[in-house]
Amino acid sequence: MQVIHTLAELRSALDAYRHPAVVPTMGNLHAGHIALVRQAKPLGDVTVATIFVNRLQFAPHEDFDTYPRTLEADCKQLQEAGCDIVFAPSEAELYPVAQTFRVQPPDALATILEGHFRPGFFGGVCTVVLKLLAATQARTAVFGKKDYQQLMVIRNMVQQFALPVHIVGGETQRAADGLALSSRNGYLSPDERQRAVLLSQTLHHVVQEVQAGRSSVADIAALEAQSMKTLSDYGWKPDYVHIRRRSDLQAITDTDAVVGHAVVLAAARLGTTRLIDNLEI
Ligand code: PAJ
Repeated sequence: MQVIHTLAELRSALDAYRHPAVVPTMGNLHAGHIALVRQAKPLGDVTVATIFVNRLQFAPHEDFDTYPRTLEADCKQLQEAGCDIVFAPSEAELYPVAQTFRVQPPDALATILEGHFRPGFFGGVCTVVLKLLAATQARTAVFGKKDYQQLMVIRNMVQQFALPVHIVGGETQRAADGLALSSRNGYLSPDERQRAVLLSQTLHHVVQEVQAGRSSVADIAALEAQSMKTLSDYGWKPDYVHIRRRSDLQAITDTDAVVGHAVVLAAARLGTTRLIDNLEI
C-alpha cells in the first residue's frame, strides 16, 4: 500500500490504472469506513482511500480543530483491508490558495435536514468531493448511507456535472447495540455511550410503526413528534426526526407510497456530541 501526500505523486501512481475505486474519508477510521473500502475493492482496478479533514465543511463553532487525526492507525486498518493507495494531502497541498471556486448545491437538497442545522455544510462537502474525485481520477466512489443526505447530494452533483464516476452507497455499520459507527462516538463519555443506543432504537420504533400501517401524513407527523419527545425525555437535544421520501428527502404526501420508498432521519445531541442516524422504511 502506498501512502501519498501530494497531487503530483498521486497522479504518477495512478498512471498504471484505468478504473480507480475511491473511498473519501476524514480519517479516524472505524469498521464503517473499512466496510466501504472492502466494498470498493472489486469495483475498480485500484482501490484508493482519501483522508482529509476538510475545513470547508465545518462551521466556526464546530470540531475542526479537535477532530481526531490518526493517520498511522488508519493506514494499518486500510492495509489490512487491501487498500492500494492512501491519499492524505495536507491542507496546503489540497488548498494551496484559498478555495474561492466553490460548488453551490441547490437549496432544495442542501438547506433541509442537516443543511438547515449546518448552513454551508453541503457546499463544503461538494467542493472537496469534486476536488477529490478529480484528483483520484475516480471511476467509482463509495459513500455510506450513514450520511444519507450527503450521499444524495453527491449523487445529484455527479449527475448534474456529468462526472464520469459511478456513485455506490454502502450500508450503515453498527455496534452490537445498534449505535451507528461514527468517528464522533469517541467523544461520548462511558455513560453517554450506554445511553446512545436510544437514537437507533427510536428510529427502529418508527420503522415498525410505519410498516404496521401508521403511514398517513397525520400518522407521520405524530410519529415524528413522539420521537422528538422520547429523545428529549431521556436528556437528548434532538434537532430533527423526519420521515421523508427516499427519492428527494422531501415531505411525504398522502399520494406517496411509503413503505419501500421512505427513510427516517434523525440528528440529536447527547451532551456536547451531535449524532446522526437514519433507517430506510
Ligand atoms: P467521514 O465522516 O470520515 O465518512 C467517510 C465515509 O464513511 C462517508 O461516506 C460516510 O457516510 C461513511 N461512513 C461513516 N460512518 C459509517 C458507518 N457507520 N457505516 C457505513 N459508512 C459509514 O463523510 C465524510 O467523512 C466527509 O463528509 C467526506 C465525504 C469525506 C468529505 O469530506
